[in-house]
Amino acid sequence: MTAISASMLASNFARMGEEACRMQAAGADFLHMDVMDGRFVPNISFGADVIRAVHAVCSLPLDVHLMVEDPDRYAETFVRAGATFLTVHAECTPHLQRALRHIRDLGARPGLALNPATPLDAVRYVLDDIDLLLVMTVNPGFGGQKLIPATVEKTREAAQLLRGSGREIRLEVDGGVAESTAALLRGAGADVLVAGSALFGAKDPAAAMAVLRGQTA
Ligand code: DX5
Ligand code: ZN
Repeated sequence: MTAISASMLASNFARMGEEACRMQAAGADFLHMDVMDGRFVPNISFGADVIRAVHAVCSLPLDVHLMVEDPDRYAETFVRAGATFLTVHAECTPHLQRALRHIRDLGARPGLALNPATPLDAVRYVLDDIDLLLVMTVNPGFGGQKLIPATVEKTREAAQLLRGSGREIRLEVDGGVAESTAALLRGAGADVLVAGSALFGAKDPAAAMAVLRGQTA
């Protein structure tokens, strides 16, 4: 079944713990934590202390998306803060394989994120080093953006590449996931949908998750 990773970027930051519990009660599979440094992306969000505090009150596995320069420098801090998946961008580090290997050695599950314009070639030689591929369907930095149509085809190609590799690597999409785009993305082969505004803006997040998973008409 399609997994849902609820993006805490769209939560009420004054009540993050309660917001995380609300998403857990509604049936989310993961909590997606967007870490932004104001350099790799123009926005600044939150860091490891906030993640640790949320982890203390919510037992959902944490899917931490690092949008920071020099992610290697911070990997250990985020694994200690509770990251189950720790995802770094191919655009952020010249020694990607080493950064991914480091995350695995720290005991977390490594993820690789690609900006919309970054070719899938970046994945080909690190397949042994990842448990998750995150195809960005918007340019990272802000919630509430519209999905870039070309990323649907990219997701399809990514799914083929992962299937062909014979490995168990999750395929996650992030940005602009909504009622109108979820079926396309599932059809393209995405098996983890990140959703921020589509869940936190919904009156009934459980019903919104069912729609994203394709469980209702
Ligand atoms: C964007 C972040 C996303 C964001 C998605 O840079 O990586 O995780 O929270 O937000 P929505 O679902 O609102 O597009
Ligand atoms: Zn994200």
